[in-house]
Amino acid sequence: MLLASYALRLPLLVIGLALGVLNSRAQQCRLVDPQARLGTNPQLPLSGGNGAATSSATSLQPTQTTPSSSVTLPSPTPFNYGKDPVRGVNLGGWFVLEPWITPSIFESTNNSDIIDEYTFGQMLDSDYALDVLQRHWDTWMTEDDFVAIKAAGLNHVRMQIGYWSVPITSAATNYSTSVSPYIPGAWPYLLRALNWARAHSLHVILDLHGAPGSQNGYDNSGRRGDANWAQGSNVNRTVDIVRFIADQIGGMVDVLELLNEPAGYQSDIGAVIGNYWQDAYQAVRQAAGTALKVMIGDAFLGVANWDGFMTSSNQDQGVLMDYHEYQVFNYNQLAWSQEEHINSSCQVLNTLKTYASSNLYTVSGEWSNAVTDCAQWLNGRGVGARWDGTYQSGQQSFGSCDGYTGDMSTFSDDYKKFLRQYWESQVEIGEAVQGWVFWTWKAESADDWSYQRGLEGGWIPQDPTERLYPNVCS
Ligand SMILES: *[C@@H]1O[C@H](CO)[C@@H](O)[C@H](O)[C@H]1NC(C)=O
Ligand SMILES: *[C@@H]1O[C@H](CO)[C@@H](O)[C@H](O)[C@H]1NC(C)=O
Ligand SMILES: *[C@@H]1O[C@H](CO)[C@@H](O)[C@H](O)[C@H]1NC(C)=O
Ligand SMILES: *[C@@H]1O[C@H](CO)[C@@H](O)[C@H](O)[C@H]1NC(C)=O
Repeated sequence: MLLASYALRLPLLVIGLALGVLNSRAQQCRLVDPQARLGTNPQLPLSGGNGAATSSATSLQPTQTTPSSSVTLPSPTPFNYGKDPVRGVNLGGWFVLEPWITPSIFESTNNSDIIDEYTFGQMLDSDYALDVLQRHWDTWMTEDDFVAIKAAGLNHVRMQIGYWSVPITSAATNYSTSVSPYIPGAWPYLLRALNWARAHSLHVILDLHGAPGSQNGYDNSGRRGDANWAQGSNVNRTVDIVRFIADQIGGMVDVLELLNEPAGYQSDIGAVIGNYWQDAYQAVRQAAGTALKVMIGDAFLGVANWDGFMTSSNQDQGVLMDYHEYQVFNYNQLAWSQEEHINSSCQVLNTLKTYASSNLYTVSGEWSNAVTDCAQWLNGRGVGARWDGTYQSGQQSFGSCDGYTGDMSTFSDDYKKFLRQYWESQVEIGEAVQGWVFWTWKAESADDWSYQRGLEGGWIPQDPTERLYPNVCS
């Protein structure tokens, strides 16, 4: 079928064999607004093809890792975007490491200079790094998580992937295929995850979260530091990468998000981002037809900045806008009372609704329950929190972090009550447009950010349509 699938088979076979050998082992956002960028094995049931609900986690056949086998799975029922609301969670920290989501992985390196996935590959022995990553890919999310997400009444997962995990070959691009010093190898685990999603009737937004050069300089792009994506051939290379993704696995995902959070406020990136959305859209359309939806983002410029943009390519309702909302990455927002956080969410609702009513379908694709930046390393490994004054000395602070993050056993009843109200206010935003995707399903030690822990702790309802505070925004 796909030109490159034959070429792919061999390397994947090798990766698959490696997975087999390592199978016995067991085994982790983004955030930050422009001002905040301080440093600013699986059993791969791909060939099963019967869509049977659960696969028992045993066999690890290398041949099962070939993407081509994906076509033997039955077609899923297309999601009715625009009519049915997207309700989902991000599977953060899985195929793109984030120090605050899995601090243990970074701590275990004994090297405080390892601050992101780039330095993880750069400063560790590559066999050791691959070993750690494979265990992580194999265990951070399992099929049980997909089952639990479905059981929580959700219909979507948004999955992150870094460009370094996409096994593009020189047959598919005239640009570099080197990803050094990143450690590739997540692709077969992604394929397995796509099959779990299908088996459990979860729709998928696949999100290119890290692009060559870094599109925002946040650790969640893979590399913290400068955002060099607009330099050299990085942008053209990224178009080839999304074309390749669409070509290889377009049939396995519902929406392909062309790039997460490009720093449109940076002039060189702001200058190219509109063209990139259009070029990458065309590439995806050519590779995968119109069944695969495409998602663009507001690039931190506000959705109103995109008024009228790509509305014509959306004649087939094939383009969606992604909007992210966090209220913890600057001092002004941290100073808000709980009520002001909720009020502010309700204002976002009006902005998005206005935009969506005459432009693209709009999804609130990242937001959380956090009202502090207290989660360990949320602002980057080794970086403190504005909340308790450990971010930068001499700045205002708001008190102790105790009881705001970490384990929910430290959360007061009042705080949990607020978390519920805040969750409901933000769900209302998403339901007022085409849907919402919470960040994130789990985090090692930040229960305020975890949908899974919210369900356990009762501040997120098992039925996402349940309201204790109806009409919180009206
Ligand atoms: C980190 O230190 C611990 C304790 O000394 C040791 O067991 C572990 O092997 C070290 N990890 C690495 C990657 O060197
Ligand atoms: C690479 O360049 C050649 C020659 O210009 C062109 O024919 C081919 O389509 C290019 N390949 C890709 C994948 O863009
Ligand atoms: C990117 O691609 C365009 C069109 O294919 C080409 O005109 C341009 O020179 C390329 N830019 C770089 C930096 O390679
Ligand atoms: C929140 O909004 C409501 C309704 O507009 C208003 O009455 C209230 O004063 C606002 N509260 C705060 C803290 O801004």
